[in-house]
Amino acid sequence: MKNAYISGTGMYVPPKSVTNDDLRTVYGIDTTNDWIVQRTGIEARRFAEAGVGSSEMGSYAAKQALEDAKITAKDLDMILFATLSPDMCFPGSGPLLQQRLGLTEGDDPRFVPTMDIRNQCSGFVYGVATAASMVRAGAAKHVLVVGAETHSAALDLSTRGRTVATIFGDGAGAVVVSATDEDRGIRKWYLGADGRYADMLKQPIWDIKQRPYIKVNEKGEGVIPPEMLWPQMDGKAVFKNAVERMCGCVMEACFDLDVTPEQIDLFCFHQANMRINQFVADQLGIPQEKLVHNIHKYGNTTAATIPLLLAEAQRDGKLKRGMKVALVAFGAGFTWGSMIIDW
Ligand SMILES: CC(C)(COP(=O)(O)OP(=O)(O)OC[C@H]1O[C@@H](n2cnc3c(N)ncnc32)[C@H](O)[C@@H]1OP(=O)(O)O)[C@@H](O)C(=O)NCCC(=O)NCCS
Repeated sequence: MKNAYISGTGMYVPPKSVTNDDLRTVYGIDTTNDWIVQRTGIEARRFAEAGVGSSEMGSYAAKQALEDAKITAKDLDMILFATLSPDMCFPGSGPLLQQRLGLTEGDDPRFVPTMDIRNQCSGFVYGVATAASMVRAGAAKHVLVVGAETHSAALDLSTRGRTVATIFGDGAGAVVVSATDEDRGIRKWYLGADGRYADMLKQPIWDIKQRPYIKVNEKGEGVIPPEMLWPQMDGKAVFKNAVERMCGCVMEACFDLDVTPEQIDLFCFHQANMRINQFVADQLGIPQEKLVHNIHKYGNTTAATIPLLLAEAQRDGKLKRGMKVALVAFGAGFTWGSMIIDW
């Protein structure tokens, strides 16, 4: 059986940086820089311009990852797209990305399978686990995994929505998962979910049990009340469960591999909240120098946080061949996942 390793990383963040003060002065939200920094560690986030969506940002990150892996888009055997902000309800962003990457063009089109992964902040870890499974099974040699989000389009950027709107940002990260005979790569993952908490973090938009699924006015236009249109979150429940689950899933993956957290060189935690990550690190006794962060400058980019961390850490020289790396995620659902990689 082949091993599966990450052969390339890539990233894209939109150029427009929105600071905490901008949320107050430009968007009119009743908040302060101190409130946001103290509770979340976020200083700024990126917002994409209108007209830019998740498959476009994902394509920029994907092109970098392909270049880093020294392959072309036509070498791919599969595309996995993790997002909670797909370009539209259906089809998924996977086929849109396939087309953007040019796989369908030319004399040798490659109609490779694509799949969207709707697992919110854990989506990227679920995606890499799926890619590694395909590679190990011999069903694929190179799988592209993208995590991309366009949150700025779907946030209630007003005082009413401030608890949620101040923590999310836009961006995309990508990796190529490839087959190798070398003794390295994705060693173990641990995934989980608890649907009892589905209401704690959600953006319903519609209710498919109703007829029709979105209320329609006399002009035949859909009418969506704010509590359906915008994300809703029980922040305290998310915080508590995130700390517990992230600690638990690091320990599960370590236990299965018979390694201890001390033997891991670099931890890439999902970037939901600096305080959550600090709690997890303290509980597990992980020193600061083994953690990488980007929440201060990008906010919570959901499925994109971990591939963004990987791409940046690799470019900054913090992530090097031979290191033992742990990825840890938690998000809506609730869903969670961890993964240990010999880089
Ligand atoms: C969101 C979070 C920062 C809120 O912090 P908190 O201490 O729980 O704050 P609360 O929701 O209890 O609100 C406290 C007060 O601050 C206010 N507030 C909320 N958002 C605010 C903002 N952006 N600016 C200023 N005040 C704000 C609330 O209205 C409330 O005011 P009140 O006491 O007058 O009613 C915190 O719960 C958290 O980080 N949760 C995890 C969220 C997360 O990581 N989500 C993504 C998971 S993938």
